[in-house]
Amino acid sequence: MKQQIEMRKLAVLIVALLAAALAISRCNAAETVRMQLTHVDAGRGLNGRELMQRMALRSRARAARLLLSSTASSVVSPGSYTGVFPVTEYLVHMAIGTPPQSVLLALDTGSDLTWTQCRPCAACFDQPLPYFDPSSSSTFDLLPCGSTPCQDLAPVTACVNPKSRPDQTCVYTYSYGDNSVTTGLLDVETFTFGAGTSVSVPGVAFGCGINNSGNFKNNNETGIAGFGRGPLSLPSQLKVANFSYCLTNITGSKPSTVLLDLPADLYSTGNGAVQTTPLIQSPESPYYYYLSLKGITVGSTRLPVDESTFALRNGTGGTIIDSGSAVTSLPSQVYRLVLDEFAAQVKLPKLTLPLADGLTCFFSPPWAKPDVPKLLLHFEGATMELPRENYVFGFEKTGKSILCLAITEGDEMSIIGNFQQQNMHVLYDLQNSKLSFVPAECDML
Ligand SMILES: *[C@@H]1O[C@H](CO)[C@@H](O)[C@H](O)[C@H]1NC(C)=O
Ligand SMILES: *[C@@H]1O[C@H](CO)[C@@H](O)[C@H](O)[C@H]1NC(C)=O
Ligand SMILES: *[C@@H]1O[C@H](CO)[C@@H](O)[C@H](O)[C@H]1NC(C)=O
Ligand SMILES: *[C@@H]1O[C@H](CO)[C@@H](O)[C@H](O)[C@H]1NC(C)=O
Ligand SMILES: *[C@@H]1O[C@H](CO)[C@@H](O)[C@H](O)[C@H]1NC(C)=O
Repeated sequence: MKQQIEMRKLAVLIVALLAAALAISRCNAAETVRMQLTHVDAGRGLNGRELMQRMALRSRARAARLLLSSTASSVVSPGSYTGVFPVTEYLVHMAIGTPPQSVLLALDTGSDLTWTQCRPCAACFDQPLPYFDPSSSSTFDLLPCGSTPCQDLAPVTACVNPKSRPDQTCVYTYSYGDNSVTTGLLDVETFTFGAGTSVSVPGVAFGCGINNSGNFKNNNETGIAGFGRGPLSLPSQLKVANFSYCLTNITGSKPSTVLLDLPADLYSTGNGAVQTTPLIQSPESPYYYYLSLKGITVGSTRLPVDESTFALRNGTGGTIIDSGSAVTSLPSQVYRLVLDEFAAQVKLPKLTLPLADGLTCFFSPPWAKPDVPKLLLHFEGATMELPRENYVFGFEKTGKSILCLAITEGDEMSIIGNFQQQNMHVLYDLQNSKLSFVPAECDML
């Protein structure tokens, strides 16, 4: 009898413990992680024109490289890495190790591996923060070759056998299209995220880069934060159901925000109707977030473009949304149609000499703000109506007022860049493979 009571007590205790554990894990799963984003050109004191020129240059380099990697990728097995041109647009603030050491990583929705420069550096580029030092962290560990993250990264990984370890250690080498390269050890660490209240997550696989060279320098970054769709990306490793970003005015100085697992009620506080469109995955370029763009309207004219122009064709073409591209780029024939229609409707004289970076500009009447036609991007199930500030910009040059279109002529792939996403809360709903967006005051988030 006594035994029965004890058993019952034990059962009650177990149920209570289970419930508590469940409550804790559910609470953890729903916890929103907030990170701060800084635009790479913030604090450089650039004027609008300089800023746009830099952004356009970076976009073109990025677009050229995205195209290369998406066509080259058909010969590479899924799960391997085809590096895109490592263009830095937004830097995300986080910390690695115990106690936490700050890092500043380029937010990249086009790649998977997260890495930062590590001591002892064989060859590192200059960065404003101290290099991450594994020897002063109590939570650092090397990953063996047989580990899942190392396998996920194959074939860009190799095995070494340091004297201190009986098991083989995972070494990675990522080469990017422009000869930028990072080499290091694949490790696990505790990552700490958070502006305000912080959240620490143990066991995150990342690259400890000890030989890094190429295009990373001069941007304040210490490495790259992979936000792509593969298994090693931060959203995948943190098992979040969704993430979002809200980019403040690029010409302003307010920081932007990235949120992981944001509550539905926080998302619904935008300034309009939430638009939702499916996210498509391509087996050839599994890291990219493809959208189904159907058409474009300038003013009241829907451009005569066949839907297939924007569609994925056996790994090529397609339309992606990308945090690493500054301005939107469109296939040549579409770009020309947009331009001709825009020119016909604004009725302003075009500058015959383009700006050095290929942006198309017009003379605008001095001291006036000419009306411009609306620009609408039609996606499957959603329309993105771009306010004026999200696709034109103006500046003064030798007493003349100039108005430019912040769109560039790209290649087969259409890329929705971040200039077009200003003051918009963009939600990547990974669980349901959907992308949503809603106009928002991003500095109030
Ligand atoms: C980059 O570093 C410089 C000097 O440390 C600083 O003034 C600037 O604000 C930083 N820029 C960003 C985007 O963090
Ligand atoms: C760094 O990598 C480059 C290219 O991968 C290589 O040529 C160079 O020798 C390496 N440097 C060091 C110090 O390991
Ligand atoms: C994001 O995911 C969390 C966790 O599953 C969920 O509670 C929340 O509703 C999602 N947010 C949106 C805006 O869908
Ligand atoms: C798609 O690409 C594969 C491999 O390059 C090729 O064998 C196949 O014929 C292509 N299919 C189409 C429809 O172009
Ligand atoms: C950003 O700020 C500049 C100057 O403060 C302003 O001219 C521009 O319209 C703003 N853009 C957006 C998208 O709010």
